[in-house]
Amino acid sequence: MYTLGSALRFTLFGESHSECVGGILEGVPKGTAIDEKAIERDMSLRKPSAGIGTPRKEDDRVEFTEGVCDGMTDGGPIRFIIRNKNTDSSKYAKFNVTPRPGHADLPALFKFKGHEIKGGNQFSGRLTAPMVAAGSIAKQHLLTHGVEVHAFARSIGPVADPEERTVLDAKASENYPTRACGAELNERMSAAILSAAADGDSVGGVVECIAVGLPIGFGGIWFEALDSEIAKAVFSIPACKGVEFGKGFALAGMRGSESNDPFFFDGGIRTKTNNMGGILGGMSDGAPLVFRAVFKPTPSIGKEQDTVNLREMRNDKVAVEGRHDPCIVPRAASVVEAAAALVIADQMMREYQ
Ligand SMILES: Cc1cc2nc3c(=O)[nH]c(=O)nc-3n(C[C@H](O)[C@H](O)[C@H](O)COP(=O)(O)O)c2cc1C
Repeated sequence: MYTLGSALRFTLFGESHSECVGGILEGVPKGTAIDEKAIERDMSLRKPSAGIGTPRKEDDRVEFTEGVCDGMTDGGPIRFIIRNKNTDSSKYAKFNVTPRPGHADLPALFKFKGHEIKGGNQFSGRLTAPMVAAGSIAKQHLLTHGVEVHAFARSIGPVADPEERTVLDAKASENYPTRACGAELNERMSAAILSAAADGDSVGGVVECIAVGLPIGFGGIWFEALDSEIAKAVFSIPACKGVEFGKGFALAGMRGSESNDPFFFDGGIRTKTNNMGGILGGMSDGAPLVFRAVFKPTPSIGKEQDTVNLREMRNDKVAVEGRHDPCIVPRAASVVEAAAALVIADQMMREYQ
């Protein structure tokens, strides 16, 4: 079990090929309405899309086993499960001997005695399903405070979206299987995924997330800073290899006169630019919170790669057959959104209670 947050505590459990994955969400006030249709919608956005996602098919129905009665929370922990139905561990047995480069097989086999690789175990993207379900509840809570969180695909492989995007653009990306902002980008991103898949290969990319409605001064400081807590949650998503806020690493090449976001007043206090991604000192400066997360190319690929044979302690080769996402980015967009929503809702409960 793995836990995130304190006032709103989310605990994740299960494995890729165990009976189910699931979550426990503690801290949601009694009498909160839970919109199960909205959860279903968010779950469907995390599902793989035909052609560009894994052929593993799961219905991803969220079953509440505790804490929700007739669509209302009872004030206790909300416990839910999502059954794993489409499991086939046979294709994974060889990774116990020849671990996949890029996946968690090698360190897991050393760390856990008797570890057997079955669909990625606790390191599988499958565990992001409960995260999206819990994130959906967090988003419903945030909406009641006027806060919205949406993510989209900023880039996939060599195809990058060059436009500045708003939270509405990010929301509209839900209409496209790649989570691109628009049909033309969706075509090009799909083509990049399909071309890698045709070569038995994979591609990575960048998810961008935008949250609006946070008041100036919202957020913690130091280890509870809004950006540190979001970064920790987002970095926990499998295959995430970097998180940056605002202009992020590009700030290194700017002068202070270019990077500072000047303030102005037009009935409210605003910033003229948003190079800081809406966060100063760990707190919101009132501008949209903007961050990006990079996802590496999916490690399981059909192409043969070098590995070590752990039984015979010699060099060997491994190729991955079976069901894998040739690109994680489109599905990760929903997960990034959920991670950000869980952290912001947790900070909100700490700040306002
Ligand atoms: C939504 C999602 C789906 C994923 N699907 C796959 C997959 O089909 N095949 C695979 O090898 N890795 C997949 N991953 C990534 C692995 O779980 C991850 O690379 C692995 O656990 C090693 O962790 P690390 O990349 O964070 O070091 C997926 C990740 C996410 C977030």
